[in-house]
Amino acid sequence: MAADDRDTTIRRATRAAAIGFAVAIASAIGLVVVYVAGGHTQLEGLFLFAAFAGTTVGLVVWTKVLIAEPDLLEERPPMRSSQEDRAAFEHAYLEAREVRDPDIASRRRFLSRLLAGASASLALALGLPFFSLGAPPGGQLFRTNWERGSRVVDFAGRPVRADMVGPGGVITVFPEGHTGDGQSAALLIGIDFGRIVEGGITAETVPGIVCYSKVCTHAGCPVGLYREEAAELLCPCHQSKFAVYDNARPISGPTTRPLPQLPLGTDDAGFLVALGDFEAPVGPEFWNIQRGGRA
Ligand code: FES
Repeated sequence: MAADDRDTTIRRATRAAAIGFAVAIASAIGLVVVYVAGGHTQLEGLFLFAAFAGTTVGLVVWTKVLIAEPDLLEERPPMRSSQEDRAAFEHAYLEAREVRDPDIASRRRFLSRLLAGASASLALALGLPFFSLGAPPGGQLFRTNWERGSRVVDFAGRPVRADMVGPGGVITVFPEGHTGDGQSAALLIGIDFGRIVEGGITAETVPGIVCYSKVCTHAGCPVGLYREEAAELLCPCHQSKFAVYDNARPISGPTTRPLPQLPLGTDDAGFLVALGDFEAPVGPEFWNIQRGGRA
């Protein structure tokens, strides 16, 4: 191959390998960002594929074009050369090589750094699944979308007023703007204040209503059955029962944690609003493990 052609080939190969490694780095970073932002299976898969593909393309091009040395043949005298001749040849060879590929070393350094970056990014991205073994990042287990002033809305997104929850009535509610969010789902229950046991409802609330998380504290099923006479909420998955007039204390079943309460108030228009997030983390027995309780 002529020297000019080879230069062009090397330049193109360098560019292709660099693009491959850059794509791998960008994809691995994208994967980390998507994972930390809450995760999206399809996007994560796409980024992982692009990271592997970029690394593969970069490595293949580099190996095939940039590392492969052209054959160099030279007629040698049949007799062993003198020490001086051999030194002179070595010198001439290295000089010729430098003239032929003046910046090959810097190209290799450049690609080596990109390859190191791509490998490190990919290793970081591939390490992310280990975080799935513990709590998700961002404190998602510690809070929900309820916050002070969140309007209470039903499944259809309609604001709920206190007088819409009659005695014994149950409405599944969400914070406005987050309808359908399972972690934030709560049960508004119309209660008889006369039946509340002493200290049985600790969250601030409005007369005739109490609000509990709908997420079972055993394994996270939705607690949906309310037996008004017994004042019990029942989780259908493993039959945990919670005492509505006693801080949703577990009465029976596998769970050991009460359902967290949501503090409630009303706004100027008489609609229910949250006065903050749930009083305790919602959801399964992760919290018991954290506190050394039984799982
Ligand atoms: S998930 Fe509710 S009792 Fe198991």
